[in-house]
Amino acid sequence: MTSQLSLEIPIVDLRDLSSPRAVDQQRASAALRHAFGVYGLVYIRNHGIDDADLNAFYDAFLGFTARSTEEKERLSRPEIWFQRGWTPPNTERAVVAGGQPDFKECYFAAPEPLDTAAQTHFPEIYAENIWPEGAPRFEELYLQIGHTLHEIGLALLRGCARALGLRPYQFEEAVYGGAHVTRALRYLPLKPEQVNTDILWGEEHTDFNLLTLLPGGRFITPEGAYAGRPDDQCGLYLRTRPTEEHPQGIQVPGKPPAGCIVAQVGQELEILTGGEFLATPHVIKAPGAPGWSRVSMAHFIHLHAHQTLIPLPPCRTEEKMRAYSPPVLAGTYATKTLVDIGLAPSASLAKLGYRHYDRLASIRSDAG
Ligand SMILES: [Fe+2]
Repeated sequence: MTSQLSLEIPIVDLRDLSSPRAVDQQRASAALRHAFGVYGLVYIRNHGIDDADLNAFYDAFLGFTARSTEEKERLSRPEIWFQRGWTPPNTERAVVAGGQPDFKECYFAAPEPLDTAAQTHFPEIYAENIWPEGAPRFEELYLQIGHTLHEIGLALLRGCARALGLRPYQFEEAVYGGAHVTRALRYLPLKPEQVNTDILWGEEHTDFNLLTLLPGGRFITPEGAYAGRPDDQCGLYLRTRPTEEHPQGIQVPGKPPAGCIVAQVGQELEILTGGEFLATPHVIKAPGAPGWSRVSMAHFIHLHAHQTLIPLPPCRTEEKMRAYSPPVLAGTYATKTLVDIGLAPSASLAKLGYRHYDRLASIRSDAG
């Protein structure tokens, strides 16, 4: 019974967050504080994402993934750490869970305008979008849904700031001009011999950004039709915060009530809140039947690359500062993480710090 009760993930009505009535805003902020403090995720209703648009987007995305590998490779950009365009299967890996590559292919695009100063410092994570030829609907719906998800996230962040006693627009200011990115994912069908092995569609991990919005994926039958889950075990699972009763947390299916979407806490929000809100570990389990695939979408809200990752004053104690030391810039943090998960080369880390030692060397040699 206790564990049943503890799985009541709050639902926030997005209209409450922009209501002129203080009582509505307080209800939403209290729900967010409980949801992000205990579970690291929240369900959102009245979010404004249209189900038909989402289906049309997935149709367009599947049209792209069905193209030849050669064609998709022309939109693959290892030199910008795959932050735009197509990411081939077996590229990204989780850090903690043994480093197994994920069984998926992805697309990345930024739905918000790019900050030009940050673009100079961090060209890979602020790269310009690239698009497949002859797919205007894919591009249009991608940007439209990505932008709506971003607006939903900003409203949630205002509620979070209120819940934590910060300035109402403090998070919103801190993310303005961030390297926000929307990702479309296709989890690959398993061959019969791969079913019920240790293959996961996406290994367990926490997101490194501030807040992630998940509008809901679709399973696809071997015949190519959208369908419900092929079995009770597969799909998105999220791990709740460990408690004395459940020291490993509880894995709950990330299946929101009808009409709701999911938002979850990333590492940047955990650090800023000194762990008041905990980054949510999540895993995508593969089905126990061959031939099934899945498409989904995620929008990642990031701090502006020049923001410092350090617990904010209401959440700042010496212990928490020590726990999240040393502070680094969000852009530097992204660089390190993208190396950790296999998208950026480790040589990227050598670029951190002073780059001009050779000047003194050349002055000395000239003087000689
Ligand atoms: Fe994730």
